[in-house]
Amino acid sequence: MKRSKGLCILAAVLAALGGCLGQAEQCTGAVQKRIDCHPQPGASQEACEARGCTWCATDVANAPWCFFSEDSPYGYSLGGNTELTAKGWRVMLNKRHTLSLFGNDISPVVLEVEFQTRDRLRFRLYDPNSQRFEVPLHIDSPGVAADEANYEAELAEGSSHFRIKRKSTGTVLWNSPLVDLFFSNQYLQITTAVPSTSVYGFGEQEHQSFKHSMDFITYALCPKLYHQREVPLVNLYGVHPFYMCVEADSNAHGVLLLNSNAQDVSLSPDPSVTFRTIGGILDFYVFLGPTPENVVQQYTEAIGRPHMPAYWSLGFHLSRWGYGSIDVLKETVNRMHYYDIPYDVQHLDIDYMERHMDFTYDKVNYAGLPEYVQKLKRKGMHNVVILDPFITKDEEPGTYRPYDLGEEMGVWVNNSDGVTPAVGKAWPPGDSVFPDYTNPRTAEWWTQMCLEFKDVLDYDGIWIDMNEPSNFLTGQYPGCAVNNLNNPPYVPSISDHSLAQKTLCPDSKTYLGEHYNTHSLFGWSQTAPTFHAAQQATGKRAFVLSRSTFVGSGKHGGHWLGDNFSQWKDMHRSIIGILEFNLFGIPYIGADICGFNYNTTYELCLRWMQLGSFYPFSRNHNAEGNKEQDPAVFGAEFAKISRATLRIRYSLLPYLYTLFYESHVHGNTVARSLMHEFTSDQETHGIDTAFLWGPAFMIAPVLQEGARSVDVYFPEATWFDYYTGHKVPSTWKKNYATVAAPLNKIPLFIRGGYILPEQAPASTTTKSRLNPFGLIIALDEHGEASGSLFWDDGDSIDTIENENYFLAKYTYSKGNLKTEILKNGYRGADTLKYNKITILGLKQRPHAVTLNGRTIRGNAFSYELSRKLTLWISAPLTQELNIRIY
Ligand code: NOJ
Repeated sequence: MKRSKGLCILAAVLAALGGCLGQAEQCTGAVQKRIDCHPQPGASQEACEARGCTWCATDVANAPWCFFSEDSPYGYSLGGNTELTAKGWRVMLNKRHTLSLFGNDISPVVLEVEFQTRDRLRFRLYDPNSQRFEVPLHIDSPGVAADEANYEAELAEGSSHFRIKRKSTGTVLWNSPLVDLFFSNQYLQITTAVPSTSVYGFGEQEHQSFKHSMDFITYALCPKLYHQREVPLVNLYGVHPFYMCVEADSNAHGVLLLNSNAQDVSLSPDPSVTFRTIGGILDFYVFLGPTPENVVQQYTEAIGRPHMPAYWSLGFHLSRWGYGSIDVLKETVNRMHYYDIPYDVQHLDIDYMERHMDFTYDKVNYAGLPEYVQKLKRKGMHNVVILDPFITKDEEPGTYRPYDLGEEMGVWVNNSDGVTPAVGKAWPPGDSVFPDYTNPRTAEWWTQMCLEFKDVLDYDGIWIDMNEPSNFLTGQYPGCAVNNLNNPPYVPSISDHSLAQKTLCPDSKTYLGEHYNTHSLFGWSQTAPTFHAAQQATGKRAFVLSRSTFVGSGKHGGHWLGDNFSQWKDMHRSIIGILEFNLFGIPYIGADICGFNYNTTYELCLRWMQLGSFYPFSRNHNAEGNKEQDPAVFGAEFAKISRATLRIRYSLLPYLYTLFYESHVHGNTVARSLMHEFTSDQETHGIDTAFLWGPAFMIAPVLQEGARSVDVYFPEATWFDYYTGHKVPSTWKKNYATVAAPLNKIPLFIRGGYILPEQAPASTTTKSRLNPFGLIIALDEHGEASGSLFWDDGDSIDTIENENYFLAKYTYSKGNLKTEILKNGYRGADTLKYNKITILGLKQRPHAVTLNGRTIRGNAFSYELSRKLTLWISAPLTQELNIRIY
């Protein structure tokens, strides 16, 4: 709710005096309980009371002054008997009064509950008399009997509330008063109480903390481009109406609103969550967990498991917008090689194109690019090319095939007439049209273009940018007509309160319907066709990096957090974004290392290289016009530190790759917060300055300028310093400890109880993949540990489905390491060896060690005072090992 400044000051003064504007007797209710009744700007007492709501000033920051009263004249009530359906029940709801917030209210509406699986419930509110837009994401619903489900769904309190309970604990996970329900043609709202304030998720915005503030915070969800990112909480490129909540007893559940219309969500201290969307239906899915990992597994089971990334894509990527020429590119690559910095992938941003036109390359400034790309490939490197979704229409006919063919095939987003293409303006010369990826014909055209381009430039992966879609105008030419789609009665709190700003008019037509409904699906609908096109073009596992994402995008692509700034706070926020996208089922996620906008500094960039070395997707990227910031440009010392940190990443890639396998097959997160692993420790709920790879590897970066130490929280577990193998003192446990972090070091810790596979690093993964493996065995307090290794050729399609992989399970107990080969389907593993076994946390110096029954000579192992034992062996990866420590 927006108020004029003068009124604000007056109201604050009155509030401070204990008074309030409006009806004093109605100001007695707890401010925390208020739900905004005037979410659009321009609230006044008059307007508020005219809509039957209560007006009362408060000095509680962000609290609404206009809010629904106890006897709200809105909402719905039961309109009939509950009817059983094949998988649940449904009931009709009728509107209670004639008053309307935004007009065109729909009544009756149906509330339908579907018991989809034991741990997943769907409930929908829809119009029984008219088909409204629904997101075309297919979610399987096997169906389960009510008594088998782990939840109950009921109408409670005299049928005035819709409630979902966790059966095992009785915790109410969802509780919606029907009087707070709105279902009109262009305004749908629902509020639910949430069982705690440990709420995570919702995107995409840049959040200041991983655990949300519930102090009347509103986030908008609607894809928009970057330029307003500095406005706090502004809606960014993707839409993920998904949150996870950790209940008081540490059980966790997740909730998805499957809706693609522009929307916003308000978090209130009661605690409650209010969803507002301007179209479609209210289609909710609730995931019962009960652990945070279970929630994400169940969520990705529904929306699609994350794709399996190519191994090379876990190496380090370098990019910048504005090398400007192949010579500058070559200089950059050469200095990376000179310092031997691990580096697998070079990205080509829009300046490789001829005049910013997709599927071309600049034959003047980038003369020889195809040959150069081949040269890098021979060194074992890979490359990724950017493609934008706008296609210039103003080249001479017959000279620009992407446009000519697309025009012939009729693949563009159209104006509201459904016939003429929408024309906007973006990077390429002249004006541009926008492919409508929701149309299967567009996928055909796009695939064809990608295949043809592969013959020009031998790319390995595709980066799809600006696919919100971005347009440099407000709507297409000649501007948006005045109608109810372009000017809906309520515009969510998105940047500029304008749906068409820097994109297309909402009344534009796509194959799936009005852009009003499909805007959030643009990037999502481009991702799958690009994935298939890349797969077809390369014959290998696809690499697709998309700026705009939606629910389920992780199945076909990864994401980066967009145009951040070279600022310390942005570095911190990147961790939050990375944790959130892991919740959204997009674990292949990173942020522009060293910052995109602004010039970076030596220290910021160095610390960011250290942190970014542990992003699941690790790429240094920079905007046009800024100073160079690749890790080789700052001189020998910087390069040495970056090299050392990236070598740690590279050595742990077998562990990271195995986490991606777990994510692809079981839906686990890859990077996860401490809260995921130590949920019952409340202190972990608010930690977003450190994070984990899987369950076992903690990264605690320096996030402040000038800092040479980090305060690290160690949850209850055995922890080892990665560098020394020393066990951290037991007094550090469940405490913050100050850990030294000189400029050349990022604090890293291994959790006892886990076995991490590693491999000697090299300058590329192509080379490191041939190196010997090691196992880091970090013992817990019982002297036990376990882990696994997934391995395949790293870039073939469907190796898991085709069983062309190797999978080993490791267990260590009572001084005995056993490896068990669960799958031995990858012949490339036959030539690989283990050469190093490290055991951390032994109780005493061993007097003998045997490998498969044979004594290992004393000079093949070393024991350090840190109680770290290192064994040097030579044993085939594909042979089961049995190592005994005596
Ligand atoms: C916007 C992207 O977010 C950025 O990464 C890229 O460098 C520019 N577009 C230019 O292509």
